[in-house]
Amino acid sequence: MSKILVTGCAGFIGSTLCERLLQEDFDVVGIDCFRSNYERTTKERNLCWLLQQPRFHFLEKDLISVSLSSILEGVAYIFHLAALPGVRTSWGTDFKAYVDNNILVTQRLLEAAKKVPTLKKIVYSSSSSIYGGMEGPTTEDRIPNPISPYGVTKLSAEQLCQLYYKNFGIPVNSLRYFTVFGPRQRPDMAFHRMITRVLNNQPIPIYGDGQQSRDFTYVDDVVTANLLAAFSSCEGEIFNIGGLSHLSVKEVISLIEIYTEKPARKNHLPPQAGDPKHTWANISKAKKLLSYQPIFDIEKGIALQVQEIKKNLSSDL
Ligand code: NAD
Ligand code: UGA
Repeated sequence: MSKILVTGCAGFIGSTLCERLLQEDFDVVGIDCFRSNYERTTKERNLCWLLQQPRFHFLEKDLISVSLSSILEGVAYIFHLAALPGVRTSWGTDFKAYVDNNILVTQRLLEAAKKVPTLKKIVYSSSSSIYGGMEGPTTEDRIPNPISPYGVTKLSAEQLCQLYYKNFGIPVNSLRYFTVFGPRQRPDMAFHRMITRVLNNQPIPIYGDGQQSRDFTYVDDVVTANLLAAFSSCEGEIFNIGGLSHLSVKEVISLIEIYTEKPARKNHLPPQAGDPKHTWANISKAKKLLSYQPIFDIEKGIALQVQEIKKNLSSDL
């Protein structure tokens, strides 16, 4: 059986990916250092089911410093999700942490991968934030123009992947995810903050006029895209991974009101630096080369996320 490594396995997307891999009968080694971008207990909760599975092996290690040679020995697939995420939080004095966790860690992994003859594929988690804003559905050949420090680091790491592919034949594909939502979404992200606050009868912060829009992508569709990118014959490719729903923040809030069955009190705040006005994925390339097809619409996804947050709020009481 192929050895699989998932970096960032305690996070929102990484833990969901590990669960799918185990359900599909793979053995998985997961690595995470519980970075403090949000509560350790939340990440431990993400790992709960995984830690009970005999075919899951967890390493609490920091990819900035851990020796990678023994971890990568015999590995066939690496899903590289570990990073410091978040567009708006990437301003300020902590930029070194973004450089270290997003660029240096990726470079270390790629360098170590050169010495792994068993390696079949690395799938790198890139981001729509490498584009900056978009006026309509955007294809992968658009010139990148990140407008946040986070976007700069995600683009650098993606370009490192391309360099290691072109110079050393490291078989890597990069997936540019577009605003991912669903159960376990990071607490700094819009749906999580808004659903939690509506359920707690607190006002929700809206940055700007709420007319900004996103190509919202359900987490299970992102997980499927990872599997397709790993097990396809494509190498050295970059794919947009978008969802079924392109909506404004205002439209999202109306859906949250429906699925929480509560009215939202709104607190309008200034627009945030680094936030693109609109994002919109053209996913023709992923459809054609990977047979990627998102299946979760926004209503189903929000309903599942509301259900999860309600359950966690009641168990936290
Ligand atoms: P997350 O913060 O929930 O998960 C990332 C995990 O990586 C965390 O558990 C963290 O502890 C771990 N990590 C960070 N640095 C590490 C290090 N040096 N060593 C070991 N572990 C480390 O974030 P997420 O939302 O699940 O994002 C996963 C990936 O997807 C990231 O690369 C992010 O940039 C990318 N991405 C996310 C979205 C989104 O909408 N959530 C969109 C585009 C791209
Ligand atoms: C998300 C992730 O957080 C990034 O890690 C990722 O790289 C990026 O998607 C991506 O697609 O590449 P973002 O689009 O900002 O970034 O996602 P949310 O935090 O869910 O915000 C969505 C929109 O809601 C933004 O326009 C934001 O300004 C708005 N928002 C967010 C609010 O109005 N209020 C809030 O409390 C939170």
